[in-house]
Amino acid sequence: MARSDSFRLHAKRFAATNRGPSVPVNAMETAAKALRAAEHVCVFTGAGISAESGVPTFRDAQSGLWSKYNAHELATPEAFARSPNLVWSWYSIRAAAVRDARPNEGHLALTTLFAYVPHSTLITQNVDDLHARAGAEHPLALHGNITHARCSAGCGARIAFADAPTNVAPHCGNCTALMRPDVVWFGEMLDADLLENARAATLACDVFLSIGTSNVVEPAASLPWIAASHGATVIVVNKSMQGQRSGPSIVQLEGMAGAVLPKLVTMAFQGRKPRYGEDS
Ligand code: OAD
Repeated sequence: MARSDSFRLHAKRFAATNRGPSVPVNAMETAAKALRAAEHVCVFTGAGISAESGVPTFRDAQSGLWSKYNAHELATPEAFARSPNLVWSWYSIRAAAVRDARPNEGHLALTTLFAYVPHSTLITQNVDDLHARAGAEHPLALHGNITHARCSAGCGARIAFADAPTNVAPHCGNCTALMRPDVVWFGEMLDADLLENARAATLACDVFLSIGTSNVVEPAASLPWIAASHGATVIVVNKSMQGQRSGPSIVQLEGMAGAVLPKLVTMAFQGRKPRYGEDS
C-alpha cells in the first residue's frame, strides 16, 4: 500500500479472526501487573467506551427515521456532495447527543490511570469529546471532532455545532462554501501529524490498552497488533472478543468498559500514590 493510502480512512474487508491460545484465567491480574510495571502506556479507544454514556456506537443499528440509512454511507464526501442537508442533519443530531452525554466510569478510570504511569498517550477514534471532559489531556483524536464544523472548501473557518439540531447545512461566514462536520470521512486522509504521533507512541509503549473498538477501520485498526508485534503487552477490553486477536502478549478482558476499567485501575494501583497530574 502506498504511504498516502495508509493515511486514508477505510474499512477493512475482513475482520481479524481469533487466533492463538485461550484467555489466561487470571487475565485481570496479568493486565494489572503489566500496567503497574509500565513506563509508557498507550490507550486506544473506540466507540465502545462511550456506549455507556448513551452515545451509540458506529456499528449499532440506527434507530427511528435513520434506520433505513447505513452509517458508512452517510460518512463519506460523496454523500455530502449528493445530499448535504441529509448528512448535516445526521451529524447535527449526533452532535447534540454527544453534548448531552457525560463521561462514564470508563473515561474517568482512564484519567486516573494517567496519573499513575510515568508516560501515557491517549489515541481515540471517537469523534466525541468525552475523554477531554473526563480530564484527559491532549487526546490524539484521529477521526476529528463532532462538536465542531469546518468550511468544506478548506478556508479555515471553524464553528461549534448549534445547541439544537438543524436540518440545513449552513454556509461559511468567510467564503460562502458549505460548512461540514469536522470529522474524517471514509476515503479521506487522516491528519498526518496525528497519525505519526499515534504510530510513534504505539511503537514506543510497553503496554497498549485497546478499548471498545471493532478493529475494522484502518489505519487505526492495526495499531494494537503493531504494538504487540513490537513487544508491548496488549490489553483488549471489549464486551465481545469477536474480531479481536489473541496471542502470547495479548490479554483479553471481556466485559463492559465502564465496569472493567475501574476494577483494572484499582487492582493495578491500589495503595500507591499518584505520581503525575493534578493529584501528584
Ligand atoms: P464500532 O461501532 O465499530 O465498534 C464498537 C466496539 O465497541 C465493538 O467491538 C463492541 O463490541 C464494543 N463495545 C460496545 N459497547 C461496549 C462497552 N460498553 N464496553 C466495551 N466494549 C463495548 O466502533 P469503532 O471501532 O470505534 O469513524 O469504529 C471505528 C470507526 O469506525 C469510528 O471511529 C468511526 C467508524 O467509521 C468515524 O466516524 C470517522
